[in-house]
Amino acid sequence: MNARDKDFDAASGGGPGGAADAGERNLAPATQSPHAPAQAMPAVGSSRIHESARAQVAGRATYIDDIPELRGTLHAAPILSPVAHGSLRGVDAQPALALPGVRGVVLAADIPGDPVLATFVHDEPIFARDSVQHVGQVIGLVVADSVQSARRAARLVKLDIEALPAVLDVRAAHAAQSYVLPPVVVRRGEPEAALTASAHRLQGQLEVGGQEHFYLEGQVAYAIPREQGQWHIHSSTQHPGEVQHWVAHALGLENNAVTVECRRMGGGFGGKETQAGHMAVWAALAARKLGRPVKLRLDRDDDFMITGKRHPFAYDWQVGFDDSGRITALKLDMLANCGFSADLSGPVADRAIFHTDNAYFLSDVEIASYRCKTNVQSHTAFRGFGGPQGVIAIEAILGDIARHLRLDPLQVRLRNLYSEEVVQSPSTGSGRTDVASLQAVPTPTVRAEPVEAPRRNTTHYQMKVEDNILEPLISELAKTSRYEERRARIARWNAQSPVIKRGIALTPVKFGISFTATFFNQAGALVHVFTDGSVQLNHGGTEMGQGLHTKIMQVVADELGVPFERVRCTATETGKVPNASATAASSGTDLNGRAAQFAARNIRDNLAAFVAGLDGCGAGAVRLRAGEVISPTCTRSFDEVVRLAYANRIQLWSDGFYRTPKIHYDKVTLTGRPFYYFSYGAACSEVAIDTLTGESRVLAVDILHDVGTSINPAIDIGQIEGGFVQGMGWLTTEQLVWTADGKLATHAPSTYKIPATGDIPEHFTVALWPEPNREDNVGGSKAVGEPPFMLGISVWEAIRDAVASAGAPQNASRLVAPATPENVLRALGGV
Ligand code: MTE
Ligand code: MOS
Repeated sequence: MNARDKDFDAASGGGPGGAADAGERNLAPATQSPHAPAQAMPAVGSSRIHESARAQVAGRATYIDDIPELRGTLHAAPILSPVAHGSLRGVDAQPALALPGVRGVVLAADIPGDPVLATFVHDEPIFARDSVQHVGQVIGLVVADSVQSARRAARLVKLDIEALPAVLDVRAAHAAQSYVLPPVVVRRGEPEAALTASAHRLQGQLEVGGQEHFYLEGQVAYAIPREQGQWHIHSSTQHPGEVQHWVAHALGLENNAVTVECRRMGGGFGGKETQAGHMAVWAALAARKLGRPVKLRLDRDDDFMITGKRHPFAYDWQVGFDDSGRITALKLDMLANCGFSADLSGPVADRAIFHTDNAYFLSDVEIASYRCKTNVQSHTAFRGFGGPQGVIAIEAILGDIARHLRLDPLQVRLRNLYSEEVVQSPSTGSGRTDVASLQAVPTPTVRAEPVEAPRRNTTHYQMKVEDNILEPLISELAKTSRYEERRARIARWNAQSPVIKRGIALTPVKFGISFTATFFNQAGALVHVFTDGSVQLNHGGTEMGQGLHTKIMQVVADELGVPFERVRCTATETGKVPNASATAASSGTDLNGRAAQFAARNIRDNLAAFVAGLDGCGAGAVRLRAGEVISPTCTRSFDEVVRLAYANRIQLWSDGFYRTPKIHYDKVTLTGRPFYYFSYGAACSEVAIDTLTGESRVLAVDILHDVGTSINPAIDIGQIEGGFVQGMGWLTTEQLVWTADGKLATHAPSTYKIPATGDIPEHFTVALWPEPNREDNVGGSKAVGEPPFMLGISVWEAIRDAVASAGAPQNASRLVAPATPENVLRALGGV
């Protein structure tokens, strides 16, 4: 290891069994020192430190609130509804306007364009107008010389609201058929008949809470009016292209009048996929009215009160299974609490349907998904995007089946995995999937085409699981984590420990990679080589800490055969790469990395053809490697070739475009191949619970995860650790509580607890599955951003295992998520 590696370990803390351990054990080919002469070492595959790590640690990385303010910049603060549902009869801004430093108030009447946000569903007002629909809904802005004056004044605005009955409970919303979008039902085989024919049957309910994104950098936008009706918007957003579109729409302009820029976010986690657009639109409306640049940075409490979170879900299920625990029939109702508007609830709830199988074959199945409208924040994307809410349902059901049959849950999971086995159940018949949209007027059931002899390898949405590594991966982790031995030891411990009970669970994840909206799976990039041989990269993806820029810089460096240090990545900007999709669905590197690779390849081809002309050889004989351009007769430095090429008028920059192959998917029937491939993983977690207080601790975690051939093992392992811990937080300590009148009571770190360093398990290992992506993906890699999140479910299952050991096994089924001390005590029957 050279000095640079050591630096990285020190910077990452290297915690107990943390990134450093795992990185050393598994891979970590030595990285290059920036000062060492260029070597033949490729950049891809090495544990480069994050391109901004040093600047971030030193406080020199610029976030939007750090950008030096233009003279005359004003600050905005939101006016919030204190009522969950009501008629908005009047707004009296006089008390606010009377405050020194206050410059104006912006309300719905000040919107020059469409007063409804330009979302797909087009159901969300920019500012509440005639009615308010949740506590915290933004009615308008107060604009002042300072942030403090604006915030103080916003609280003085008098609102005349006549309260109306509010729907706060997702089951009540479902009963009242209060939906933001029509329900969707996916069905395969004959679940009712198969249930009746099943040797065993169980039914149950489950409640799973939402989750606050808790990005370190809160929501912020800075809107700057430019000459001739043009705008420059700094936005902390995962989707600059959508922010551009929304701002233009609200201002009544064409997209070409608005440029949106994002150098980095201090975390997004899905919370800045759409929600960042609101800040930008609000700031731009204020800037337009007052003719000044306006910055809007939400106070943390306001951020909690205004922005949507992970969708809380409720479930009703019936399952049939055989003596071995193999599922023979499943009927599942999923109620998604969407909040007051659709936002991304449609695709989120769809992804929950797509991931209800997780790793398991479901022969005869019906999943009904209800997109419930409630008077709370409009819930939105959050790491996993509905996937976790699908996966937890089937994992809970499998845990309950195992306890019912008194079998080892891991054995039951293994028996249900996707495999090449021919389907036994006669009722599956053609293996067709039927989908019905249950609207007020029932639409006819749509039937997909029959498929070939059914095997246990096809999902309920008719995608074949071709790259299945579940069985070997899980078996390997069971071995390395010594699952069986520890299970026996835990049983012995529990037999002699009346108060502290332990539990263990090993759960897998299979996560579909691609946007389910096929058209989003495209990307563009720009690569410039300057005359000194330095390289500048720009692409449509955004950096939120996940290391996207670093990985793509590695890809570009290798494509041009230059050292990593010659490549810089610039801020994401709609004026450079247009129409870019959100950086989401874990596909940032897959999409933008390939686009950037193609751009760099064009330049590489130009240089190779040019050198071939000089040396009288074929272009295919010219190699670019380690800062050199090598033909059969001559080796030149990259810089020299670039200088010569420029002098000979050879193009030294290029764009690149990529669209994901093979995917197709019918939005009506929800069938096809929505995903290019699957990412896999598994985690084994051991916990202890205190049966007197309900507290729990995670003692040990071992993860084996599939990232294909890693572009950057340190970054990938960081994503796996971070994703896992965030998933663990969702299911243990992070509890959102709304009061009976609809106010979010947990709106600050004092009442909403995300995992802290002290919650990191003492034993925490991450190993990478050593196999490239079987599909042709950039560098042989696989997406990593979201899949590990679902491994946190192993912690929840381990807590349920401990709860079952403490009393009647069925008590485990009473546990709701998150497993807070109160909820654990309730499950134990103690409250
Ligand atoms: N990692 C960090 N550090 N910060 C983030 O905000 N967002 C996650 C994941 N990892 C996030 C993160 C989410 S929700 C997604 S979809 C992916 O990163 C997006 O980036 P990628 O596609 O480049 O993996
Ligand atoms: Mo991630 S939830 O797809 O932004």
